[in-house]
Amino acid sequence: MEHVADNPWVALAYLISGVCFIMALRGLSSPESSRRGNRYGMIGMAIAVLTTLATHVPTMPVLAVGEVGGYDYAAILQRVDALAMFEILAAIGIGAAIGVVTARRIAMTAMPQLVAAFHSLVGMAAVLVAIAAFLNPVAFGIADVVTPLIGAPFAAIHGVSRIEMILGVAIGAITFSGSVIAFLKLNGNMGGAPIMLPARHAINLGVALMIVWFSFSFWMTQAPLDFWIVVALSFAIGFLLIIPIGGADMPVVVSMLNSYSGWAAAAMGFTLHNTAMIITGALVGSSGAILSYIMCRAMNRSFISVIAGGFGAESGPSGGGAAQIDRPWKRGSAEDAAFLMSQAEQVIIVPGYGMAVAQAQHVLREMGDKLKAEGVRVKYAIHPVAGRMPGHMNVLLAEANVPYDEVFELEDINSEFAQTDVAFVIGANDVTNPAAKTDKTSPIYGMPVLDVEKAKTVLFVKRSMGGVGYAGVDNEVFYRDNTMMLLADAKKMVEEIVKALD
Ligand code: TAP
Repeated sequence: MEHVADNPWVALAYLISGVCFIMALRGLSSPESSRRGNRYGMIGMAIAVLTTLATHVPTMPVLAVGEVGGYDYAAILQRVDALAMFEILAAIGIGAAIGVVTARRIAMTAMPQLVAAFHSLVGMAAVLVAIAAFLNPVAFGIADVVTPLIGAPFAAIHGVSRIEMILGVAIGAITFSGSVIAFLKLNGNMGGAPIMLPARHAINLGVALMIVWFSFSFWMTQAPLDFWIVVALSFAIGFLLIIPIGGADMPVVVSMLNSYSGWAAAAMGFTLHNTAMIITGALVGSSGAILSYIMCRAMNRSFISVIAGGFGAESGPSGGGAAQIDRPWKRGSAEDAAFLMSQAEQVIIVPGYGMAVAQAQHVLREMGDKLKAEGVRVKYAIHPVAGRMPGHMNVLLAEANVPYDEVFELEDINSEFAQTDVAFVIGANDVTNPAAKTDKTSPIYGMPVLDVEKAKTVLFVKRSMGGVGYAGVDNEVFYRDNTMMLLADAKKMVEEIVKALD
């Protein structure tokens, strides 16, 4: 059977959409070009969807034409095609409407769970496509009808398609159930604490081996029972792998699930003979894996244990001890901060999760503008895992129109703290904690951190001395002689500093 993918125009259109996706990834690698990257992605997806629609509809093969037994089959099939087209367009319309409303309403801090929810949909889509292909393989062009000497004719699915199908369904099911747990934990519907099953490693290994065995058996025999067992076990292992992971470690898991969803889509692309899906799936799969690797490195986690699951279990956010409020520390006011910064030659602003919670980015930019007007050099230092998702701070600062040339990555700015008058830390904690450099017992030991304590003065904005960051550990910088604590909600404090600067 000839597939639409063999049509050179279709191949060309899918190639162009693949190029657009690569350019989208390229663009998304820097805040400056990210809008352009997004546009490339949208164009690529539009080309892919339109090409697929144009070449796959009408979908019904014309089995009979003309009038047979008083029925006009051609007319009936045309109506079925029109109905299929209507259903597809209606589904696209409903999906797009939900997407637009969600994107407009979602709070930046809720982005990780939204991404987890989207991944669950990708996983489920892969499972459903695989099930559809399994139930009607001839319609998907992946089987030959075999007529045995005895018994009824049956559809023999091609050997390679069986592999693609079982891979797609397994990865898709793991992605779905894993993403649902990630969503529930991140959204607070389920306790964030790791849930430890006894002998979980043995159980996981057992289930994984059973998946491999039944997949192999399905490949050999095409037995429906094998197929359904793989589906059920894959859903189960998705839950089992993610349940032991603490809510705080979820963003890395979400990025890993992103990668899985890409591979599931790529496997389904083979089943559907859709080159665009294969290219896109492989791009999502590999970029998700690279992102997870970068995040693991920045958080000092082992990449292998992330892939194996349950990696965050042993070092939960409880270790390391809470803040020691009884140690002496210095409290400052907005006026003190305004005075110190207006006298400075250079101020480095270090934003963190608390800035996102308080939505203080707009007033922070206003503060930066006022300082610049007074001749102060203002820079922003971004730690790779500040906040709760990759690029969290970059997105917020870009939203507030902070000029890109004032924003620096950790490795480009860290050496400057020693020559800086004021480090203004706003809602960041772990990413500035020097214990990461010295204390081997600290859960963040080994994570590269911003050397804020080397600045002449450190201004630390947070709500209370008792509050700790994501890792749940105290920060030595609070108690240093050169630190002044500015205890308040980040937005309120910066608003007051802006007033004081006036
Ligand atoms: P955190 O260490 O989590 O510290 C946040 C600080 O913000 C806390 O000290 C908190 O203290 C303060 N805060 C919270 N709400 C505030 C508000 N409304 N106003 C003022 N301050 C507020 O944040 P970070 O330094 O950005 O570090 C990020 C952490 O998340 C790292 O440990 C990282 O490994 C982890 N993580 C990051 C990612 C990604 S990809 N970014 C993914 C997973 C995990 P108070 O409660 O006293 O106010």
